[in-house]
Amino acid sequence: MVAKRSCIIIGNWKMHKTIEEAEAFVNGLLTSYSPSDHKKIGLAVPYTAIYPLRQLVSSSSILSIGAQNMNDASEGAFTGEIAGTMLKEAGAEFVILGHSERRRLYAEDNACINKKMKRAIETGLRPILCVGETEEELASRQTEKVIELQLREGLKDLNAIDLRDLVIAYEPVWAIGTGNPASPAVAQATHQFCRRIIANLLSLEFAEQTVIQYGGSINAANAQILLAQSDIDGLLIGGASLSLATFLHIINQHYAKLSPEE
Ligand code: 13P
Repeated sequence: MVAKRSCIIIGNWKMHKTIEEAEAFVNGLLTSYSPSDHKKIGLAVPYTAIYPLRQLVSSSSILSIGAQNMNDASEGAFTGEIAGTMLKEAGAEFVILGHSERRRLYAEDNACINKKMKRAIETGLRPILCVGETEEELASRQTEKVIELQLREGLKDLNAIDLRDLVIAYEPVWAIGTGNPASPAVAQATHQFCRRIIANLLSLEFAEQTVIQYGGSINAANAQILLAQSDIDGLLIGGASLSLATFLHIINQHYAKLSPEE
């Protein structure tokens, strides 16, 4: 029998929180949250907060700390950029790659994201590859085509061993920060589609094990119904992860009802 996929809930803070604010949040989280299992929640934080937060969580290992981007080069004359080795040294365990804000605002294409994927894997950072269609692509029924290309090109030349820690995040661009999430049925269907493409690219067995998160306008009221869909294995939460009370509410609601091994 195939083992059940784990559920991973990650907050993506984007460009929010100073070190002081980040530490206050995590201190609060550590006092209010005591899961029976670890590593199923994470925070993708600004670069400056990675090291101090790892100092705070290292003894508890309750949550993973990660980054939101990295450069594909190992080092060099790239003013303002950051290398995977630097993130790893600071204590990052994972890195979000190909977020739609990076694609749209910083012109990152699938080839660029594929290079970053390779570098992240080489560096030992768990890659979270974001995919998703824009509003125009949705309207012109391009969703499947766009996502297939993002997966095919983003994962190009990587095998099942390289990708053993892979997480995919389906984030419809039209749902991000709009208060308008994908309906559970639409999200479930798109996750199923992603899994089918991953099965084609790698194997059915691999696809069955791949964690696919949903992201886009998640809040305390809609998180559980999305997580209840069979192909939704976690969440990538933007705005709602900035409030400790809301983030705690979402993770407690979900993990409190699971048995320790789930
Ligand atoms: P919101 O939850 O604010 O819509 O953002 C989602 C997101 O971009 C997470 O990466």
